[in-house]
Amino acid sequence: MKFACFTPEIKTIGSFKYAGGDVLRALREEQGKMLHSASIEYTRQHGGFLANRFLDIIRKDILCPTTMYPVIDTKVVMLMPNQYACIPGWHCDAVPRDSVHSQPDPKKMDVDVKHFIGTLSSEENGAKTLFATSQYGLSYDPKNVWRSISEEITALGEEFSTKTVPNGGIVRISQPTLHTCQPAKTREMRFFFRLSYYRKPAENKRRHQVQVYTSFNNGW
Ligand SMILES: [Fe+2]
Repeated sequence: MKFACFTPEIKTIGSFKYAGGDVLRALREEQGKMLHSASIEYTRQHGGFLANRFLDIIRKDILCPTTMYPVIDTKVVMLMPNQYACIPGWHCDAVPRDSVHSQPDPKKMDVDVKHFIGTLSSEENGAKTLFATSQYGLSYDPKNVWRSISEEITALGEEFSTKTVPNGGIVRISQPTLHTCQPAKTREMRFFFRLSYYRKPAENKRRHQVQVYTSFNNGW
């Protein structure tokens, strides 16, 4: 087992309220304009209405170091009760790995790497991301990093303090901020927006495929 310290940094950036009437229609339209690894310019040109409004809200807070690139991903999923929009389990995003198939290395987390994350659900009580709010030192198995960390956090129970963000809210988190998705309680359509600082430039692609997840975390 190894040990790493996870110090969360969460800042509320803003909130998007859909004022156009039929939010389901807006979510369906966004489905045709999902983005994979898009630059800000590509998002402005090819992204959907929601991607561009979320980008408007965070634009002034994007202070990406010159050695990194702001990269945007969006997706819209249809969730049934007990389905997840991402792989369930506590994790941090884009933690460096030695190779594509190796495990992430929490020792290489970088507090200067930021992620802006926002979601908009068709349901006010839609599935919300849980974010860790206190600093934790956690031991983990380097052969199955996120599964072992999730198990340790689950064992902490109520002691592990968390928060959620209201529907339409956008936060900026640092890379060592642990978070996890929660299962849908009702049928819902959900838009996800993330702008991350990466060391590789954007690939500027449209996203043509999304999936939902059902089983509990087996690590990845
Ligand atoms: Fe994540």
